[in-house]
Amino acid sequence: MRYSRLTQDLAPLAGDKWALHLEALRRRDAGEPIVMLTIGEPDQPAEPSLIAATKAALDAGRTRYSNGHGELGLLEALVQRYQPRSPTPLSAANFLCLPGTQTALYVAMRAVLEPGDEVLVGDPLYATYQAVIAACGARPVFLPTSAETGFMPTADAAEQAVTQRTKALLLNSPHNPSGAVMSASLIRALGDVAQRHDLWIVADEVYEALIFDPAQTPFVSPWDWTDLQARSLLVSSISKSHAAPGFRSGWILASAETCARALPLAEAMLFGNQPFLADATAAALAEPSQVADRMRADYARRARLVEGLLERHQGLRVFAPQAGMFILVEVTALGLDGGAFAQRLLDEQGVAVMPGASFGNQLAGWLRLSLTVDDSLIAEACRRVLALARSL
Ligand SMILES: Cc1ncc(COP(=O)(O)O)c(C=O)c1O
Repeated sequence: MRYSRLTQDLAPLAGDKWALHLEALRRRDAGEPIVMLTIGEPDQPAEPSLIAATKAALDAGRTRYSNGHGELGLLEALVQRYQPRSPTPLSAANFLCLPGTQTALYVAMRAVLEPGDEVLVGDPLYATYQAVIAACGARPVFLPTSAETGFMPTADAAEQAVTQRTKALLLNSPHNPSGAVMSASLIRALGDVAQRHDLWIVADEVYEALIFDPAQTPFVSPWDWTDLQARSLLVSSISKSHAAPGFRSGWILASAETCARALPLAEAMLFGNQPFLADATAAALAEPSQVADRMRADYARRARLVEGLLERHQGLRVFAPQAGMFILVEVTALGLDGGAFAQRLLDEQGVAVMPGASFGNQLAGWLRLSLTVDDSLIAEACRRVLALARSL
């Protein structure tokens, strides 16, 4: 049969990154006692009020079709949630409800990119970004970052990478995989680059609720500046804030004009998400998330635990995250790349971590460890990482 060229283009961008994770799952399911520190599935149960609201909405028969824009109750809850930080008045017209940040990102990118366009994005980057950009026929232009630059792209690097074809800047703060948080001055400087070259800013803010110490590292968004709003599309969801990734409940925040232009695309894809999930999301957004408080405390404490344990070994370097559910560990000095170390860690020590290269070339010498298992398992995994490191 004749498949689209797109299926070929996307094949190497998707599956390969998760090969070690899938192998570890297979082995665990076959009975091997593998410690899984690969993906970021919260270990806390979903926010209880979310579950109660879902049951109530199901009992109330909220199982009919929705519409491409979103259920009114959820749109109003989103206005309430974002209004305090928006310098301009918001309305339902500023939002599109979609199943998760991932779908929101896809719609946002499809709404602004043409085949042949270039998208500036930091390397390392979240594992699906390349495929989303490629699905639009566009090309990522990587802005290399490092532990020394806090894994954040500089405005100078962005400026130098701009060409006639550059159409968008893809930002992610708090950042997966590094857990770094963008400062106001950096977002402003990148916003100035976007202004000078008429670029869209697509900002993935799904980890907003998981900043460990917001007083120290406050959350900042391009939306905070009135003059950047017309060119900004923000994407987020309750996946992380309410420990509910399976709900697939997310949204786009953008200008009313941008949302109106993207609406037919959202309708072409799914024609509205689920009213019972929309009701539950609206109820959950109306209250501070208790589970987010617990996750912040857990992930911050576990990150410090990993730092304390692994930095005892000279060959290992840990990048201290400011947010999120992961921690990066560099193994370059041990003479193995991250992929080889991760494979040996699985084979010899029964610990599964993500090779850094799954998140870009800049992390070829790194591992990404998930902080979503309890402290004793984290400590045990670190002891096994140390055992392998010592044996090299
Ligand atoms: C940076 C980033 N963006 C988007 C997503 C997907 O989020 P959602 O579950 O809302 O689709 C993830 C999930 O891990 C992520 O880490």
